Amino acid sequence: MKRRGLVIAIDGTVGTGKTTTARRVAERLGYRHLDTGAMYRAVTLAATRRGVAPEDAAALEALLATSTIDLDSGRGRVLLDGQDISEAIRQPEITRRAGAYADVPLVRHFLVAQQQQWGQWGGVVAEGRDTAAVVFPDAELKIALVADLDERADRRHRELTAKGVGITLEQVRSDIQTRDREDAERDYGGTSAAAEIVEIDTTRMTLEDQVDYVVALACQRGA
Ligand code: C5P
Repeated sequence: MKRRGLVIAIDGTVGTGKTTTARRVAERLGYRHLDTGAMYRAVTLAATRRGVAPEDAAALEALLATSTIDLDSGRGRVLLDGQDISEAIRQPEITRRAGAYADVPLVRHFLVAQQQQWGQWGGVVAEGRDTAAVVFPDAELKIALVADLDERADRRHRELTAKGVGITLEQVRSDIQTRDREDAERDYGGTSAAAEIVEIDTTRMTLEDQVDYVVALACQRGA
């Protein structure tokens, strides 16, 4: 089968506009959007609902074997056993718990294998911490989005408030700091291939600027 386009891997810290940028770049290029964080969140939600702790490997394995997680790339929805969980996985409680489940090796292996299937024929914008280093080390374009903490906290707070989630700016800022620390300590394995990664500081960029910039880089590389 012929490849349908590039694999673009977008990494970035919390609140850098990673998900929205990836989704819009995918729309502009006619690619699929692979939100790997949504998969970890879906596992976290499923486990939380069934009362499965991250330490309980056997129960987690059974959960993964009996659950179906679907990303509807076109509509930007996430389904768990056919039920739309797109909003539920963005709740702060799930966000806080996701790291503990994402640290479990069997969860990572299971999800990375699913993610790699998406990239098989190209034409995908994959987004998430380990997409460049582990999931798609051969991606034609690798991006790391960064931004100042205050700007990221502001963005995330506005987003959650608009969705009706009651949370203070201070709490959002502190959650982001915790996740930054956890992410920095986490070893995803793989090579970082740092030299190939294009870092974009989005602190003073609009979302449109970010999207235009990534699309331009993709076009330079043959998208
Ligand atoms: O990107 P997002 O905030 O939706 O990811 C939720 C959580 O899932 C992250 O905080 C991280 O713990 C985990 N994650 C991961 N590897 C990825 C994507 C997300 O470990 N590729």
